[in-house]
Amino acid sequence: MNPDVACAAAGEASGAPPAPASPAEPHARLRGVTRVYPAAAGREPVHALGPVDLDLHRGEFFSVVGPSGCGKSTLLDVLGGLAEASEGTVEFEGRPVAGNVPDGVGIVFQEDASFPWLSVYDNAAFGLRRAGTAEAEIRERVDHALAFMGLRGFATAYPAQLSGGMRQRLCIARTLVTRPRLLLLDEPFGALDQQTRLLMGDELLKLWRGTGATILLITHALDEAAMLSDRVGVMSARPGVFLDVVSTGWSRDRDSNIVAEESFGRITGRLWSTLRAESQKSLAFGQAAVLQ
Ligand SMILES: Nc1ncnc2c1ncn2[C@@H]1O[C@H](COP(=O)(O)OP(=O)(O)OP(=O)(O)O)[C@@H](O)[C@H]1O
Ligand SMILES: [Mg+2]
Repeated sequence: MNPDVACAAAGEASGAPPAPASPAEPHARLRGVTRVYPAAAGREPVHALGPVDLDLHRGEFFSVVGPSGCGKSTLLDVLGGLAEASEGTVEFEGRPVAGNVPDGVGIVFQEDASFPWLSVYDNAAFGLRRAGTAEAEIRERVDHALAFMGLRGFATAYPAQLSGGMRQRLCIARTLVTRPRLLLLDEPFGALDQQTRLLMGDELLKLWRGTGATILLITHALDEAAMLSDRVGVMSARPGVFLDVVSTGWSRDRDSNIVAEESFGRITGRLWSTLRAESQKSLAFGQAAVLQ
């Protein structure tokens, strides 16, 4: 990945205080947002997303599930200022998002975005160094983030010496050091086995409680979405729109033990009943494309 993009995506550290919170105002707001990728040679333009309306409340944990290729990463790119909406408006803390990752937003990408030529410590410190943060402050924040993500003993290792899951944790640590107020996570646990995913989910919940950040998580795992979230948005096949938004009703101090609760099954069942038909549409479209 281009370091400029990765650095911007990790969120520049800023001394600026967060914008004053107004309980009535959503932390982020999308209205009528669409994204159409322009036509490549010999191809039609791709209508990837929307129109989408979404209010993210301050401090909530919102997950997005949807069939592969429905526009989830596109939604995250538009919300994070990495891609422009073709139509509609995107706001974070009451200000329009356009052209840049806003101050206070941190993004963890779907793919491993660690820099192979930098140590774990230097990877984690990258965004803060670019922002000119003092070394003592960097050390404190990086040590804390690496310890939090279970990487304390690996500060001098290089990404190639880590497992896929550890590299993904490093990418989360690199974003956490910037203390984002809105954390956008694109399938951060996709490469992990089921048990590790559940445990990482517990860590993410601790982080969410500890920081008070608003989290938007994209995941293909319905159980993960149901366990972690205050609300789960279910997207249609491309172009992705929200078909259903499910409030889970969990308490803030939840953890992975809720997978054993009866209401957990009801929530995942509702998510799947909406998603099933959409996934079939996506699959049929992909099969048709292969057969052409
Ligand atoms: N740069 C691009 N140019 C053209 N089309 C694109 C581009 N990026 C994504 N697309 C298309 O837009 C659609 C949505 O892509 P996106 O990556 O947002 O889906 P997704 O829901 O994140 O998929 P997945 O679950 O597989 O990660 C897909 O059909 C994809 O092929
Ligand atoms: Mg994606």
